[in-house]
Amino acid sequence: MVGYQKSTATRGLAAQLELTYDTESHLLSCVNKLFTSVNLGALVSPLSTTTNEPRLSLLIELSDKAGALHSTLAPFAEYGVNITHIESRPIRRDSFNFYVDCEGVRGDRNIEAVLTALEEKQLNVLILDYKKVPWFPRQIVELDLIGDRILLAKSELDSDHPGFKDAKYRERRAQIDALARGFVHGQPIPMVKYSQEELGTWSKVFLNLHDLHRLYACPEYIRVFEVMEKECGYSENNIPQGRDVSAFLELRTGFRLRPVAGLLSQRDFLNGLAFRVFFCTQYVRHHSKPFYTPEPDVCHELIGHAPMLADPSFADLSQEIGLASLGASEPEIERLARCYWHSVEFGLIENHGQLKAYGAGLLSSYGELKKACSHNRTANDIEPNKALQPWNPSVAALQEYPVTDYQPVYFVADSVPDAMVRMREYCRHVPRPFHARYNPTTEQIWIDRAVVREPNRGD
Ligand SMILES: [Fe+2]
Repeated sequence: MVGYQKSTATRGLAAQLELTYDTESHLLSCVNKLFTSVNLGALVSPLSTTTNEPRLSLLIELSDKAGALHSTLAPFAEYGVNITHIESRPIRRDSFNFYVDCEGVRGDRNIEAVLTALEEKQLNVLILDYKKVPWFPRQIVELDLIGDRILLAKSELDSDHPGFKDAKYRERRAQIDALARGFVHGQPIPMVKYSQEELGTWSKVFLNLHDLHRLYACPEYIRVFEVMEKECGYSENNIPQGRDVSAFLELRTGFRLRPVAGLLSQRDFLNGLAFRVFFCTQYVRHHSKPFYTPEPDVCHELIGHAPMLADPSFADLSQEIGLASLGASEPEIERLARCYWHSVEFGLIENHGQLKAYGAGLLSSYGELKKACSHNRTANDIEPNKALQPWNPSVAALQEYPVTDYQPVYFVADSVPDAMVRMREYCRHVPRPFHARYNPTTEQIWIDRAVVREPNRGD
């Protein structure tokens, strides 16, 4: 949707703009074709910033009279220049500023023809500087630039990690990490030959959770997990391969797993979700504490996350957060990360009056899943400002959370689709100077305004 703001001055220009409200670029192209004739004067500034985005942003001042917008947009249609965004702001009683973004850059023959045509109309036209935003991947191959930016260098472990003093474990971690670090987009996910010790740890986690899921996992999870047992090799005696799970997800929702050696920054991790890519660890937690891990491991990823990524609404919820994170400011990233935490990691739904989990942090933790969903807590306990709160991303965005303790607050949605719809609505209002969409055919992010990505921190 474009950022058009309705005004009270609905004669002339605003009335014409009704045609472009809630529009995509193809509709705007149609609008272009509807309009003909012109009259503008020209004040065209030199292009002050280079960009790798094929977009041009113009500010055009128009008087509020019938046909003015119509005629102004005519050259865009005449020379085949696609408008991607248009927005109006009243500046005086009888004038509007129109912000127009279109495909192309200075020097393109058609762009220059449009600018010349606008100049001949003798209206004020200003070519705007490009907005600077934090770097973000524009195409899926650019995830290769962020996939190795692990927060802890190499195979370092925190001193309170159960495997900190276990040299053999650390060496094994380094082997599996190396597989992830060598991964580039398009390759098959490396297979891991898990040891008996690793399989033993997986087996304990798997058995521990298997029956509890029947009580407390949401119906979407239970349904797909049964399928994954058959098709992906989930069992107490086998750790499924990321390659097989990824192929299963891709067929169902277009989500893919991408191996990673550890924790990424919030921004990098969320950016991957925009492409329906989930960064996924392959190592196994330390065998001394099978029911505890201070970091994501393959048990958390494959038992907690992967089954829900096969659900279309959950997949969309994840991608919405990812798309909103592209080029977002640091405070917005913080807010989105909290929404992610309170939904994708620790989200609950109410199902026939009972609490059920859809968040991976719950689905991969016996103790916390039981605590969050136990029968002495019901949907009747859901109240604002209480330990069980109705799912509201605006509230969740501000709710701090502990990383290594049980959560003091859980957010409860009506259903997984409800969780997604509310998240989508929140993301629509994340302040950002452009709107982003993912094109799964080209595997690229489409944006509607000209922006400059600030240098990548990894460059
Ligand atoms: Fe997780």
